[in-house]
Amino acid sequence: MKKTLLLKVDSQDPEIEKIRIAAGFIKNGGLVAFPTETVYGLGADALNPNAVLALFKAKKRPLDNPPIVHVGSVKKVYKLAKEAPTKAEKLMKSFWPGPLTLIFKRSEIVPDVTVAGLDTIAIRMPRHNVALALLRRSSCPIAAPSANLAGKPSPTTAKHVLDDLDGRIDAVLDAGSTHIGVESTVLDMTVDPPQILRPGGTPYEDLKKILVKVELHPVAVAEKEVPVEKARSPGVKHKHYAPNAEVILVEGEVSAIKGKIKELAKFYMRKGNRVGVLATDETADYYKADVVKSLGSRSDLAVIAKNLFRLLREFDSEGVDVVIAEGIPLEGLGLAVMNRLRKASGYKIVKANSFR
Ligand code: TXA
Ligand code: MG
Repeated sequence: MKKTLLLKVDSQDPEIEKIRIAAGFIKNGGLVAFPTETVYGLGADALNPNAVLALFKAKKRPLDNPPIVHVGSVKKVYKLAKEAPTKAEKLMKSFWPGPLTLIFKRSEIVPDVTVAGLDTIAIRMPRHNVALALLRRSSCPIAAPSANLAGKPSPTTAKHVLDDLDGRIDAVLDAGSTHIGVESTVLDMTVDPPQILRPGGTPYEDLKKILVKVELHPVAVAEKEVPVEKARSPGVKHKHYAPNAEVILVEGEVSAIKGKIKELAKFYMRKGNRVGVLATDETADYYKADVVKSLGSRSDLAVIAKNLFRLLREFDSEGVDVVIAEGIPLEGLGLAVMNRLRKASGYKIVKANSFR
């Protein structure tokens, strides 16, 4: 056990002394959790193999699932990647800093452990002043997976980070809740047309405007487990986003979802389970369960994305056995939310039909 230092910082204008302390840890091979616009990341010097190894250990993350490497400027990409296609340059101009991770062929300077032995590397420039200040002070690229124990919902507050990692990391920079709440979109630029491996904070529709041609890899929209050999993004074959409670996802038209969830909640409560329903503002009053939580209005997917991981964690702290979650439309940020919910459920998906 180490002592984990909690460093509260201003999210817009972070205090330089605190950034200096955090950067000191990174430069010495330590581990620092920090906020980005999506979720909190757990950072280590991406070019220091021992630091990256310690990062995997602290998270209990399987060594075959590489982290995203964060940079403070586009210039750094040309050192870490073998080549940057013109399309990637266009995307960096349009979306960086921001919630878009690009996969490139990697250069020789990147240690094997950082990319889990792959010949590619995932890179992004986060849009958060604390993350950018840390990157600039540390003057190295920072490998940073989400700062949760492997398999748990990603952290959107410093408290979530400490709930999972207190005593396992050197410090956490606390700048309050993150804005977006789901992780970055992972886009593979080594294939043509580029493929979305993980839907996230940059919607498919926005990428399509710039790229014209962009594909969704089957894993990004999977409704059941994809065979490992087909799963190009290594992360997809591991358990993800799961609270301790069993999660059941109900998909379909809202009216049909309501009926189905009511029925399921009754069934599980009768069996003696403590049942939670993950609802929306439009439907929350309708349910009878031990705990009902609303993600927000169906007309504001940004709010739903922002609340998702926090609410999944809250169900655990309230000792719920089964969470029955409402599906939302697969558009905009809804695609990322549904990808997380499907994985959290271990693909226990119930289709609600409106015909009678
Ligand atoms: O928003 C985010 O992306 C957050 C914040 C902290 O930046 N980070 C994050 O990292 O979500 P992580 O490690 O939890 O997820 C990284 C994803 C995993 O699904 C991993 O398999 C994939 O990116 N990935 C990393 N390197 C890859 C590569 N070379 N090829 C394909 N997928 C890769
Ligand atoms: Mg993660």
